[in-house]
Amino acid sequence: NGKYTVTLIPGDGIGPEISESVKAIYTAAKVPIQWEEVSVTPILKDGKTVIPDDAIASVKKNTVALKGPLATPIGKGHVSLNLTLRRTFNLFANVRPCASIKGFKTPYDDVNTVLIRENTEGEYSGIEHEVVDGVVQSIKLITWEASERVARYAFNYAKDNGRDRVTAVHKANIMKMSDGLFLSACRQVSKDFPDIRYDEDLLDRVCLKVTTDPRPYNDRVMVMPNLYGDILSDMCAGLIGGLGLTPSGNIGKDASIFEAVHGSAPDIAGKGLANPTALLLSSMMMLRHMNLYDYAAKIENAALTTIAEGKAITGDLGGKASTKEYTDAIIKKLA
Ligand code: IPM
Ligand code: MN
Repeated sequence: NGKYTVTLIPGDGIGPEISESVKAIYTAAKVPIQWEEVSVTPILKDGKTVIPDDAIASVKKNTVALKGPLATPIGKGHVSLNLTLRRTFNLFANVRPCASIKGFKTPYDDVNTVLIRENTEGEYSGIEHEVVDGVVQSIKLITWEASERVARYAFNYAKDNGRDRVTAVHKANIMKMSDGLFLSACRQVSKDFPDIRYDEDLLDRVCLKVTTDPRPYNDRVMVMPNLYGDILSDMCAGLIGGLGLTPSGNIGKDASIFEAVHGSAPDIAGKGLANPTALLLSSMMMLRHMNLYDYAAKIENAALTTIAEGKAITGDLGGKASTKEYTDAIIKKLA
């Protein structure tokens, strides 16, 4: 039927509501996609958390997925399914653009940077154990292979997206060996991209500078190990209005999963109040990944205009609209 099949993981909490919104907008825009909806619940198998087989099979077959939030237990309990998905499909690069949304007032209205986060190892390797009572050890695993792979992705991303500078963000003053290895991989890759300026900066300094004035970070790509990317991307999201507005894509060789970075927001789940923008903008990254540029531009434009007008926006953006009213306003603009 000439349609692409895409796996949809609605997720927990507000996930189903924001997914409904995206689906309605896609139907109205006549995007040639049919959704294959799967639920992802934790299954314990041989002491390990795994994802249901049908969900795995669906992502494997379709190679592209859109994903809502999956609740992650704190301290105890199962391994985050968000992580399990990234690991299962070896989604090595987590791309997190951070661009101001016109009409949503923040101290700087012209932020436009991109973070690329190593997505498979570092502190996220999940290797932890208790040495003796009161002493635990967490392993931060850094490999040349994963560092080189994400660095190369970052340089190619910069090249393909008209960004002329790549900054590797690190703490190699302290983590001399692990971050040192990450940096040497970045340096080596940089030699293959003579047209792109390469430099390095310390994570804490970047945090200070980016919150003082983010504009010097425009037109470049920042690449960094996993945990730094997790933290710095939330900090950057804060600069443009929060996680309700920031898209992300987990890119692998055999599959890619585009997801909203925010949580499942159980406090407002089921009330029709959630802001679907982050999931919708993540799906724009997905459409571009699938070369469906025209649909992406059209929907993005409708959503951003709706936000800029400020009449039908959700509570988190200072408006009074329900998820459905916001969705309908976007759909109206598509016509
Ligand atoms: C993110 C989230 C995840 C992470 C959690 C939910 C496992 O915070 O995508 O940034 O820590 O990577
Ligand atoms: Mn995070």
